[in-house]
Amino acid sequence: MRNSNTVAFIGGGNMGSAIIDRMVSSGFKGSEIFVIDPNEDKRQKLSSQFGVATHAEPGDWLANVGNIVLAVKPQQLPDAIRQIKPYIEGASFISIAAGVQTADLSAMLQTKKIARVMPNTPIKVGLGVCGIFLMDPQLKEITKKIFGPCGEVIWCDREPMLESITAISGSGPAYVFFFMESLEKAAIGYGFNAGQARALAVSTVLGSSRLAKESPESLGTLRERVTSKGGTTYEALKVLGDKELTSIMQEAMDACRRRAVELGEAFHKTLEVK
Ligand SMILES: NC(=O)c1ccc[n+]([C@@H]2O[C@H](COP(=O)([O-])OP(=O)(O)OC[C@H]3O[C@@H](n4cnc5c(N)ncnc54)[C@H](OP(=O)(O)O)[C@@H]3O)[C@@H](O)[C@H]2O)c1
Repeated sequence: MRNSNTVAFIGGGNMGSAIIDRMVSSGFKGSEIFVIDPNEDKRQKLSSQFGVATHAEPGDWLANVGNIVLAVKPQQLPDAIRQIKPYIEGASFISIAAGVQTADLSAMLQTKKIARVMPNTPIKVGLGVCGIFLMDPQLKEITKKIFGPCGEVIWCDREPMLESITAISGSGPAYVFFFMESLEKAAIGYGFNAGQARALAVSTVLGSSRLAKESPESLGTLRERVTSKGGTTYEALKVLGDKELTSIMQEAMDACRRRAVELGEAFHKTLEVK
């Protein structure tokens, strides 16, 4: 009989360990969490940090676990599923593998008890964004319990919305870091030291995000409040060319979304040839 409060992670890497961290901080007991990962250092770190049970491979113990989180790279997924197959009948599944469609997961796992989640790296500090698509609506409660403490949850009622989420928030931290790097580089160019330059870049983005989060005003209004006509910000925005930056960003996100769809299709093709 499976225990519906328990969760096994297949893969205890970057994302798996960040999610486990948030789960434990939000009240999950270490004894409710299991991890399979071939890497001994990662297993040791996870068990000493969070008190979770770790295993190099699946075994009979997995047959009692209610929920299985697939947290390996997409290319590792077919092998990982083959290994757990003898122990999964009746379990629910949550996949965070980028681009891999629920229809393909369902064919591999022989169940529809599946949710697909697209998280991002700020889940490490509880300020992530997780897009969630439920193939089985009954998985809402458990996915909310696991991913709620990771940050903002955006429920997606159509699966392609997850590819759009990939383009905005999944890859989004990289766009923001890229922007922050240009602030930092400019600060160094103006003669600030490395620590000051990093603080200027990080705190500008952090403060603006916090202000946007707490303010009822639109992002456009908040921007206008910093921008008086003929003033300093006005000059900077003229150079950025509001519209041009928006269209460059749109182009970048469209390219990202297209790639997410392509990767899902490529994954599907690898299943067809087997
Ligand atoms: N990073 C992001 O920003 C992000 C965002 C959204 C979604 N995702 C998705 O999250 C998933 C995990 O990404 P990640 O960055 O956490 O990758 P990762 O750090 O490489 O973690 C995956 C872990 O799974 C282990 N593993 C490999 N084969 C296994 C098997 N058969 N059974 C159990 N464990 C196995 C890997 O070990 P080895 O290292 O020894 O192979 C590794 O420790 C990916 O599917 C990715 O698409 C990532």
